[in-house]
Amino acid sequence: MNTEPKKLLLAALAGETLSRPPIWLMRQAGRYLAEYRAVRAKAGSFLKLCYTPELAAEVTLQPIRRFGFDASILFADILLLPNAMGQKLDYREGEGPVLEPIRSLEALKALGEPDIHATLSPVYETVRLLRRDLPADCTLIGFAGAPWTVATYMVEGRGGNDQAAAKTWAYQDPDGFQVLIDRLVTATIDYLSRQIEAGAEVVQLFDTWAGVLPEADFRRWCVEPARRIVLGLREKHPAVPVIAFPRGAGANYPLFAEFVQGLSLDTSVPLAWAASALQRKLAVQGNLDPRYLVAGGATMRREILRLLNNLGHGPYIFNLGHGIVPETPPDHVAALVNTVKMWQR
Ligand code: CP3
Repeated sequence: MNTEPKKLLLAALAGETLSRPPIWLMRQAGRYLAEYRAVRAKAGSFLKLCYTPELAAEVTLQPIRRFGFDASILFADILLLPNAMGQKLDYREGEGPVLEPIRSLEALKALGEPDIHATLSPVYETVRLLRRDLPADCTLIGFAGAPWTVATYMVEGRGGNDQAAAKTWAYQDPDGFQVLIDRLVTATIDYLSRQIEAGAEVVQLFDTWAGVLPEADFRRWCVEPARRIVLGLREKHPAVPVIAFPRGAGANYPLFAEFVQGLSLDTSVPLAWAASALQRKLAVQGNLDPRYLVAGGATMRREILRLLNNLGHGPYIFNLGHGIVPETPPDHVAALVNTVKMWQR
């Protein structure tokens, strides 16, 4: 008989209200940690770090050792998938990701249809190493970018805050843009399935730029692709929960509630509304402003307690409203984890 206690993250995603919520943080591995910067320097480039399983597993484990998070997120990047689909990718210091832009159906077809797993197999190996090395009570999260957000980078060709090129394509030629989204849906189901088969216990879909679309486009380019990915995963892996992070979705957050198990809330979502409109139906995650983690001290503590007291009485996963920023003092992260672990409903 299996007498192992359920991992906290899996219990919360099954809809349980716990005596204290599990905690993990988006971008918990990264430049704010000296030990990450050392491994990153040894790897030589960010992409080499992502594609070298021993090093990627090591940086994934660093924040687990240091802070004792309840969950661990695979170290990789959402842009590895377009890279595997044939698009050239580079990360430049101070500039972020740079891709060869794809602005039309012809440019998309010119990529051909390479076997994505040929490029992505080191990621699956990282997952296997992590399942071997993680503490027994720590849940392993796999992830991918949501099609809309990945498409914004593929079409624009770089990071930053500009989704103009993707919008122009989507609005001028929706049928052509749909071909790109459909290819991303299929590839994302394959990619996440392989992560699950290698040992990922939960998967999260990052839709960083969901909040820039008008209602009808939001449904077409964010909600429907996410629904198709979840249904595709459910066919093969019905027990694996999915968390969606449609950043900036605002009053449209409830559209996801019928098909995912967890919703990750950005910083702007009001807590009382989240408790009544979302948490009655599924687990919510979030939404501490990462800048409170930079500020630290009594003001951070007050904000953490506001979150715990508002959302801690239903299925809840403590997290940020967006990723950790590089200037975050690690001591503040330790204080956050301590406050959450000491809290009792
Ligand atoms: O959360 C984790 O610890 C897991 C690893 C992870 C990374 N990126 C590592 C990374 C995850 C889950 C992501 C997701 C990701 N990547 C998103 C969605 C979430 C979000 O933050 O909005 C997006 C939009 C990307 C694309 C991306 N990758 C950008 C725009 C950049 C440059 C900006 C930056 O922070 O430098 C990256 C690079 C990146 N991805 C870094 C890390 C640790 C920094 C690279 C470095 O070490 O120099």
